[in-house]
Amino acid sequence: MKINSAVFVKGIVRWDDFDLPVLPQVAFIGRSNVGKSSLINHLLNRKKLVKTSGTPGKTQMLNFFLINDSFYLVDLPGYGFAAPKGVRQAWREMIYGYLVNSPDLNLILQLVDIRHEPSKEDKAFTQSLMDAELPFKIVANKSDKLGKNQIAKQSSLIKKILKQTEMPIAHSSMSSQGKAELMTLLEKAIV
Ligand code: GTP
Ligand code: MG
Repeated sequence: MKINSAVFVKGIVRWDDFDLPVLPQVAFIGRSNVGKSSLINHLLNRKKLVKTSGTPGKTQMLNFFLINDSFYLVDLPGYGFAAPKGVRQAWREMIYGYLVNSPDLNLILQLVDIRHEPSKEDKAFTQSLMDAELPFKIVANKSDKLGKNQIAKQSSLIKKILKQTEMPIAHSSMSSQGKAELMTLLEKAIV
């Protein structure tokens, strides 16, 4: 797929504030700092379309990017950073409200850090995606940080811990590992 246009259209904090033209959506979720915004830039071959940061908690809204005038990529705020209880509750309502009320959301990519065993929050999030029978795929991100053997070992561990039947897609926005596979998934999801 050739990316002809990629523009930020809107950031919303409530799923029912969505008032954009109805088009297929693909959303990115995962722990804060796992590389969601970087992954979107990487897939689109845009360096700075989406703001990235070394400071967790950079993305705070549901940010919609319109691609080729035909689908949206949705950058979601990450979970797992230190925040007061009320903020976490607001996050949950915003994210789950969006996930379960978006009939055009055709694919959710849940990113986990390939270097670590999935966290309690990663596990809980995967479990809720399964419980809600939402279409999702696990991405084991930052694979450039590991060697080949470690990538295989950690991928198996992530698969097991998250109770998946398929291996996660090992990906890196630095080395481009896994990019082609993700683009294929994306293309299937937006028709
Ligand atoms: P929030 O918006 O806070 O939820 O974070 P995010 O998941 O959008 O992460 P972001 O894309 O802002 O990246 C966080 C940090 O990880 C930045 O310093 C990136 O440069 C770095 N990073 C992102 N992807 C990769 C990757 O594939 N490999 C490596 N080594 N670093 C990465
Ligand atoms: Mg972000």
